[in-house]
Amino acid sequence: MNVAVIGAHGSIARTLTPLLTQNGHSVRGLVRKESQFDDLRSDGAAPVLCDIETVGADELDRAIGDSDVVLFAAGAGPGSGPERKLSVDRDGAIKAVESAVRTGAKHFIIVSSMGADDPPADDDDFSVYLQAKAAADEAVRGADISATILRPGRLTDDAPKGHVTAAQSVERGEIPRADVAAVLAQIIEQRSPLDKTLELVSGDTPIQAALASPFP
Ligand SMILES: NC(=O)c1ccc[n+]([C@@H]2O[C@H](COP(=O)([O-])OP(=O)(O)OC[C@H]3O[C@@H](n4cnc5c(N)ncnc54)[C@H](OP(=O)(O)O)[C@@H]3O)[C@@H](O)[C@H]2O)c1
Repeated sequence: MNVAVIGAHGSIARTLTPLLTQNGHSVRGLVRKESQFDDLRSDGAAPVLCDIETVGADELDRAIGDSDVVLFAAGAGPGSGPERKLSVDRDGAIKAVESAVRTGAKHFIIVSSMGADDPPADDDDFSVYLQAKAAADEAVRGADISATILRPGRLTDDAPKGHVTAAQSVERGEIPRADVAAVLAQIIEQRSPLDKTLELVSGDTPIQAALASPFP
């Protein structure tokens, strides 16, 4: 399959791309800095310059091209203020799903966050971040495309455990980024799009079994 990854230089995305290419998929990596192109090539992706905050619809459609799967893995990041939470985590994701629909992709996947189901109404950065994720998820749910909304708990850089708990609602917890990447690879590998909103933390179930149907 052809997979477009938006935010392809992020930690999760950089672990995911080699998993996808090892499985025989082609990856277009969308990044906003040409200085990241060599890293993307070494991961096995074809780099495409695309700043999700400023890109127009036609240019984004060209960047996504004929991808079967579009993954939104970008994020404004911890150092950013509320404006960028809205312009990247909310508006960037909404642009991405609209483009996935226009370009005829079969499956849209977004890395959302645990807590986006019921974001606090405050205006501190973290609350705005969860509000942005919630608005993006709502747009994804309403779009005319099969979509997986993945909501991991707190991300760590620990070594992958290979075991997770994934369900519509799980106890708060954390999960290594490498396990989130492995879950994304498995969701893409399964080919039949997982049209679900899933919370995800480390757990006791091997990833493949945790994503097998019937789904909790
Ligand atoms: N931290 C947590 O505990 C937690 C928990 C749940 C979910 N999440 C979410 O998980 C997702 C991925 O996590 P991660 O650790 O892989 O994130 P990450 O390493 O911070 O990667 C995010 C990527 O988004 C890119 N990006 C930012 N603005 C962009 C723009 N305008 N256009 C294109 N790309 C842009 C960044 O590129 P640059 O190098 O150009 O900045 C960066 O490579 C994020 O959405 C995050 O919010 C985080």
